[in-house]
Amino acid sequence: MAKVDVLLGLQWGDEGKGKIVDVLTPNYDMVARFQGGPNAGHTLHFDGKKYVLRSIPSGIFQKDTINVVGNGVVLDPVRFIEEAKELQKSGCSVKDKLRIARKAHLILPTHRLLDAANEKALKGSKIGTTGRGIGPTYTDKTARYGVRVGEIEGDFDKAYNTAKERHLARLAAMGEMPDLTDLEKEYFDAIEQLKTFKLIDCEYEINAALHDGKKVLAEGAQGSMLDVDYGTYPFVTSSNTIASGCCTGLGIAPQQIGHVFGIFKAYCTRVGAGPFPTELQDEVGHEMAVRGAEFGAVTGRPRRCGWIDLVALKYTIMLSGVTDLIMMKSDVLDTFKEIKACRAYRVNGKETQRVPFHFTDDDSIEPIYDTIPGWQCDLTAVTREADFPAAFRNYIAYLENALGCPIKIVSVGPDRKQTIVR
Ligand code: GDP
Ligand code: IMO
Ligand code: MG
Repeated sequence: MAKVDVLLGLQWGDEGKGKIVDVLTPNYDMVARFQGGPNAGHTLHFDGKKYVLRSIPSGIFQKDTINVVGNGVVLDPVRFIEEAKELQKSGCSVKDKLRIARKAHLILPTHRLLDAANEKALKGSKIGTTGRGIGPTYTDKTARYGVRVGEIEGDFDKAYNTAKERHLARLAAMGEMPDLTDLEKEYFDAIEQLKTFKLIDCEYEINAALHDGKKVLAEGAQGSMLDVDYGTYPFVTSSNTIASGCCTGLGIAPQQIGHVFGIFKAYCTRVGAGPFPTELQDEVGHEMAVRGAEFGAVTGRPRRCGWIDLVALKYTIMLSGVTDLIMMKSDVLDTFKEIKACRAYRVNGKETQRVPFHFTDDDSIEPIYDTIPGWQCDLTAVTREADFPAAFRNYIAYLENALGCPIKIVSVGPDRKQTIVR
């Protein structure tokens, strides 16, 4: 029986998962998303073009690969149809290659309204969600009120209306009386189009594929520090973004997991509110943001930037049993004379290597840095490891030693081709 390799983000999202899934896809028969929804924005660059995927897996551009939206995903039919149409227009045969799990939950228009109303009610302590209805949809799932994709094969109106009435009552209690006319029109149009896609019992399909010796790559969304259990709660997303989320999100057993690819930036970013101990609100942080074009792929919001955080990385490597590291956006640090890496935190005057429970207040966590010399040359045209400058090799060796895990792939630019496998 073949295994499922998992690729997931080790920081606060936007590590470059889309690019690497696209690069790795030729080695796989199937690519499957296991959690998250249209809060994700996975960017791919090839042949001079840029694509941003939200709900559709990043393996969709390779000719013979089957792509699966797993049961752990939350799907917004309106956004999904928009995305599928864009891809069809660019010549990608989405319908032939995509399968959607019947057990995935549907995002309703009222989930999006609830997301906005919840944020509004939080006033000064907003989470800074993507506003895509993610939290309310997963809340309904665990509360056992959710509407699943498979309902569109039955009495969908009944399931929809029951959920909608519940949402409207909640919204009214929050002082919101929305007019749903336009939202429902586009929603029901999208549902009709969703019916033309192939729905599957994802757990059976994936296990059957593994049994037939097919290779499967599971694509994570968000990042491990946004995991609902282990992230910087409550400033997290509402799903399990770590490797165990792949088992529940696709219906596979733990022993079916093969490689765990952990992906991280050579520095660190975060969108939305919440703690970020190594954040730089100075010229250095600004230079990272400009050089790395750090603006959210979904909402366009500027991403907060800072030095790499090894305490958080070691934690997330542990949580997912990462076997192979992938370092992204190395080229963004090309101009820096010195690079810093946070090797420990000082919390209440005490040095620690652990992510503390009370991780909600940045001011109480002081990063302790190592300083590493920068390489100060252009990495973007490098195509072979042999051509890495000595100082860059030194940074890689420093990280591998600190993290106790090999860095197998290094990315030096957004294009598919700017990828060096070691
Ligand atoms: P994802 O959500 O993890 O798939 O990452 P995003 O697509 O949201 O953000 C990563 C951004 O960095 C995208 O704009 C990519 O095109 C870009 N990118 C990926 N790898 C590299 C790299 O090695 N160097 C540079 N400069 N940009 C990269
Ligand atoms: P990808 O897959 C970065 C963040 C939001 C917010 C928090 C909760 O592209 O890496 P949500 O809408 O999920 O309820 O928002 O999580 N967030 C992301 N940050 N990359 C993402 O996805 C994210 N998806 C959600 O900014 O702080
Ligand atoms: Mg992203």
